[in-house]
Parts: sequence; structure tokens; C-alpha cells
Amino acid sequence: MGATRGCQLLMALAALLVVLRGCAGQDVDGGGADSPEAAAGPTAPMEEKERAALYAAIESFVGKGWNGSGLYPDPCGWSPIQGVSCDLFNGLWYPTAISIGPVLDNSLQCAPDARFSPQLFDLRRLRTLSFYSCFPASNPTAIPTASWEKLSGSLETLEFRTNPGLTGAIPTSLGRLSALQSLVLVDNNLTGAIPAELGDLLKLRRLVASGNNWLSGPIPATLGNDHRHDELLILDLSKNLLIGSLPSSLGGLRGLLKMDLSDNLLHGSIPPELGELNNLTLLDLRNNSLTGGVPPFVQSMASLQDLLLSNNPLGGSLPSSGWEKMSSNLATLDLSNVGLSGAIPESMAALTGLRFMALDHNHLTGPVPSGLARMPRIAAMYLNGNNLTGALAFEAAFYERMGRRFASWDNPGLCYDVAAVDAAHAPAGVVVCKDLQEPARDGGEDEQERRKPEASSSLVASSACGLSDANAGGLWWPLLVVSSTVASTLLGSVLL
Ligand SMILES: *[C@@H]1O[C@H](CO)[C@@H](O)[C@H](O)[C@H]1NC(C)=O
Ligand SMILES: *[C@@H]1O[C@H](CO)[C@@H](O)[C@H](O)[C@H]1NC(C)=O
Ligand SMILES: *[C@@H]1O[C@H](CO)[C@@H](O)[C@H](O)[C@H]1NC(C)=O
Ligand SMILES: *[C@@H]1O[C@H](CO)[C@@H](O)[C@H](O)[C@H]1NC(C)=O
Ligand SMILES: *[C@@H]1O[C@H](CO)[C@@H](O)[C@H](O)[C@H]1NC(C)=O
Repeated sequence: MGATRGCQLLMALAALLVVLRGCAGQDVDGGGADSPEAAAGPTAPMEEKERAALYAAIESFVGKGWNGSGLYPDPCGWSPIQGVSCDLFNGLWYPTAISIGPVLDNSLQCAPDARFSPQLFDLRRLRTLSFYSCFPASNPTAIPTASWEKLSGSLETLEFRTNPGLTGAIPTSLGRLSALQSLVLVDNNLTGAIPAELGDLLKLRRLVASGNNWLSGPIPATLGNDHRHDELLILDLSKNLLIGSLPSSLGGLRGLLKMDLSDNLLHGSIPPELGELNNLTLLDLRNNSLTGGVPPFVQSMASLQDLLLSNNPLGGSLPSSGWEKMSSNLATLDLSNVGLSGAIPESMAALTGLRFMALDHNHLTGPVPSGLARMPRIAAMYLNGNNLTGALAFEAAFYERMGRRFASWDNPGLCYDVAAVDAAHAPAGVVVCKDLQEPARDGGEDEQERRKPEASSSLVASSACGLSDANAGGLWWPLLVVSSTVASTLLGSVLL
């Protein structure tokens, strides 16, 4: 088998390994550990120092008592180690993947005093190294800073997932892993900044460093600089303490499919260069401190399916035109709590692929365009917590289909036409238009409908009702407030 061909096969196997964590070991050696014939057969040829390095490397993770040579005398042959894969190079077998962590019953698991052994870096053909739930908080351990250059020609995947005790900085020396395609550092306890040296990883396809409680500093401007990272498909730096503004260099990540920078402390405006990411399907910038309005260039990002900008003080208003450019792909639009003012443009009804629309908790004013109900895929629409006014002009079928996934409560000037929909399907927390002048007198079933649900857009709407103490008397105050504050606006438009 040619080494290059082997590389490609192993890449596929490495991908499998991420899912199966260790099943690949048997795939590669062809199985047969249980069969007596295999056990009696010749061992897979291997350099003795390679075999010794493998035992030593694993022993330092799984604990002193682990007798590798006794348990697995032929680790690349008839006695495979769960989580270890091998491949053939010039007639000799080499370990190419090591995955440690409690995935399967017989997976390699870290000892309470697991540590990195220097012999790990003697496994010169190692392509995949993965640690899941290996370093608990009781075993604080740093990622080694030295020796990564020894794996620079081979290592393609490096993963640390769910290691609360993995502390310290991301070593700048990881930038020497020039063959690296996937760097995943999820839910650890890493500190410090994301090293600019990661910009030297020109083969990266996936960079994920989310959920590290103390990861801070800015997003390095080396990412995407000079279009050097055309192969990067996924950039996820969410759930950290990253500060500063989004570097315009990110617009150079031309092949990017998903960008998730949510749950950080990023500020400044969204750079127009991001509009050059023509293959981007997910842009998630939720829960930051970004300003500068909803950038109009997002409408020209032809592949965008999920645009999530909620919980940012963006301000400004919704673009009044151009939404039809996103009609075929955009499925999720989350603009909850971004300080929007002005009206909801009728042209948003052109978003024919939209399934989820959240405009809640803004300062939107004016009427709700009736065309929104004609978006064929729409399954959830949150307009609550605004200053929308006038009569909701949707048909009964729309309210019936949407149920609690249509939210328009907390808009004091909004009402619905009692002739358009029966009480059971009336929009929750919205008053009947005629009530603005002449409040209905009966409580009964109406009372149920007027309770204000607590749901917020970013979550799936809860069916629970908020105001458990609603009573006949309590129903009157919103009607009175409405009639005294906005009756004049409504009189002309609603009560005709
Ligand atoms: C490991 O196993 C081998 C073979 O069973 C045995 O000879 C050796 O003494 C064992 N080593 C330890 C440290 O137990
Ligand atoms: C994470 O790191 C911080 C700062 O180094 C430390 O205070 C904290 O105890 C660590 N948490 C865990 C679970 O190890
Ligand atoms: C964008 O996606 C298309 C279709 O998958 C692909 O042919 C093209 O190479 C991608 N662009 C970049 C810059 O990777
Ligand atoms: C927003 O991000 C901060 C900082 O990462 C985090 O502490 C907070 O829980 C997040 N809030 C929400 C609503 O996700
Ligand atoms: C609605 O408008 C009133 C009067 O202009 C204002 O006081 C209030 O803050 C607005 N509410 C929202 C949610 O924007």
C-alpha cells in the first residue's frame, strides 16, 4: 500500500474514530483478536522502539499498573488496543491514532494521575490524538509545550474534550504542527489568549476552542490573513471570554461554512469583510457586545442558513429591502434583543425559506405586516416585547398552526380581530381590538388566553403561562392602559 493512499484511507478511519473512539483499531488490523488461529499466527512487524514508545505513552495516561506488553503483545496485529489504530508504512506497522476516554466499556481511560509521557512524541506516524474526559479538576495538567515539532509532519487531528483539569495556556508550539487539519479544544479549563501562531496552521479545516472558562484576549488577526486559510471550514470560539473586535482578516476565510463566536465579550461592529464569506451557512455572534446595526451585507451572503445575532446592542433598524436575496437559504433569523427600532418591513415576507424568526425584545414600532404569515416554512415567530401597534391581520389557520410559537404579547398597542379567530386560538397576551374601546365583560375562557406566557424566543416557547393570578379584575388593567395610551393611534387604523 502506498503511503499516500494509506493516508487517505486513514483519514477516513480517523474520522470514524472520532465517532466510535477506538473501534477503528479492529478495523485496521483486520480483526481476529478473539480467534485462536490469529493468536497463534505471526505478529505484525513493528520497530521495537515504536512498540515500547506506544506502551510507555499509554501507560502514563492509564496508570502504572497497565502491563501493555503483557496484555497486548501484538498491538498492531492480533491483540489490538481499544482506541489505538495502526497503519503499514514500508512493511512495518506504526500506531497512527490514539483515543483515550470513557466511550466504550473497554476504552482506555485515564488514571487519576494521568500525565503526558515524552515517549508520546516518539510515535512519529501519529495522525490522531484525542483525549476525552481524561483530566479531572483533581488532576490539573497543562498541554505540553515542548516536542510538538516532532509530530509536525504527521499529526492531523488533536482533540481535548471535556477535561476540567486541562489548565494553562494553549501552547504557541501547536503552531508547529504544520500537517494539522483539526484542532479541537472543547470544554476544558484553558487560560490565556488564543496564540497568533495558530495562524501558521495552513492546512486547518476545523478550529474549535469553545467552552474554556478562562480563554481570553482577542481573536488573532492571523486567522484568514492573506487568504492563507482557504481550507478552514469550521471556526468555533464560542463560550469563552474573548474581547476586542472581530478582525477583518476573518473575511479571508473564504471556504468557511460555520463561524460561531457566540457567548464572548466581543465588541465593535461586524466588519464588512465578513460579507465575502460566500460559503458561510452559519453566522452565530449571539451574546456579545457588538454594535453598529444589523449589517446590510448579510443579505448578500448567498449560502447563509442561520443568522444568529441576538443579545447584542446592535441598534439601528431592519434593512427595508433586499431580503429576497436570502430567500432560498435563510432558515433561522435570530435578532432577539438587539436594540432594533423602526418598523418590520413588509419585504421580509420574501424570506420564503424562513422557519424561525425572532424579533422579540426590541423597540420595533408600527404594524405587523400580514405577509409574514405567507412565509411557507415559518414554524416559529417571536415579536413579543416590542412597541408594535394596530390589528394583527393574520388568518385563523396561521394562529392554529403556530400555537404558542407565535408570540406577540408585551406589545401594548397591538390587538387582534375577534372575528378572525376563535378564542381557543387567539394570540396569547394580545387584546381584542374592540376591547380597546369597549372591553369584553366575560372572563371564562378568554381569561386563559390573555395570560402572559413567559416564553422568550431563543428558547422553544414554553406552554406554561406566566400570570397565574390572572382574574377577572386583572384582565382590565392592560385594556385600560392600552386605551389611555395608544387609543388615538389605533382609532383610525383599527376600529374601522
Ligand atoms: C507483564 O506481562 C508479562 C507477560 O505476561 C510478564 O512477563 C511481565 O512480568 C509483566 N510485567 C509486569 C510489570 O507485571
Ligand atoms: C480552572 O482554572 C482556574 C484558573 O486557573 C481555576 O481557578 C479553577 O479552579 C479551574 N477549574 C477547575 C474545574 O479545575
Ligand atoms: C464554496 O463551495 C463551493 C461548492 O461546494 C466550492 O466549489 C468552492 O470551492 C467553495 N469555495 C471556497 C473558497 O472554498
Ligand atoms: C453570555 O456570555 C457570557 C460570557 O461568556 C456568559 O457568562 C453568559 O452566561 C452568556 N449569557 C447567555 C444568556 O448565554
Ligand atoms: C414603547 O414606547 C413607549 C413610548 O414611546 C416607551 O416609553 C417604551 O419604552 C417603548 N417600549 C419599548 C419596548 O420599546
